[in-house]
Amino acid sequence: MEEKIKLHDREFILSITASQIQDAVARVASAINRDMAGEDLLFISILNGAFMFTADLLKRIGMNCQVTFVKLSSYRDASSTGIIKELIGLNEDIRGRSVIVVEDIVDTGATLGRIMDQLTIHNPKQIRVATLLLKPDVFKGKIPVDYVGLEVPNAFIVGYGLDYNGLGRNLEGIYEIV
Ligand code: IMP
Repeated sequence: MEEKIKLHDREFILSITASQIQDAVARVASAINRDMAGEDLLFISILNGAFMFTADLLKRIGMNCQVTFVKLSSYRDASSTGIIKELIGLNEDIRGRSVIVVEDIVDTGATLGRIMDQLTIHNPKQIRVATLLLKPDVFKGKIPVDYVGLEVPNAFIVGYGLDYNGLGRNLEGIYEIV
């Protein structure tokens, strides 16, 4: 694994190795396997960033389950100054089911709050959240994050699904901006 990389105009150094990530993924998977046994389980993966975590996590889930992928589209609300983020691509009926939202990183928690609001209205049996990474110093959300792979400091990171202006998602480790 490279120690230093360059994406666009910025340099990044390795901060979490591929094997540390895989250990974290395994911990999250075994907690889910323990807690969700017997449930009608649907994973909802938030694109784009969560694609790699979702793939590795699902390989370690030992019960029957489904997975679907959704995206948040941003548009400007004409009646206010705010940016509205809407969940698109959810075709599954989640009523009465056990849902696990899969995120790459929870930073302020604003994104997660939007997602939870939009899922809750469809009356699932329960919704849990699994994120590979959490920035606890920034997190202001009120939503409990049930499964956290690793806590990270408040610095900009890329790799393993996370990008810097479109680049870096393919890296198997996580790199911090210099
Ligand atoms: P939040 O709404 O502040 O919690 O931000 C969550 C989203 O911001 C994540 O799903 C990422 O897409 C993006 N994000 C937050 N921190 C980073 C980072 O350090 N690197 C890359 N993307 C990030």
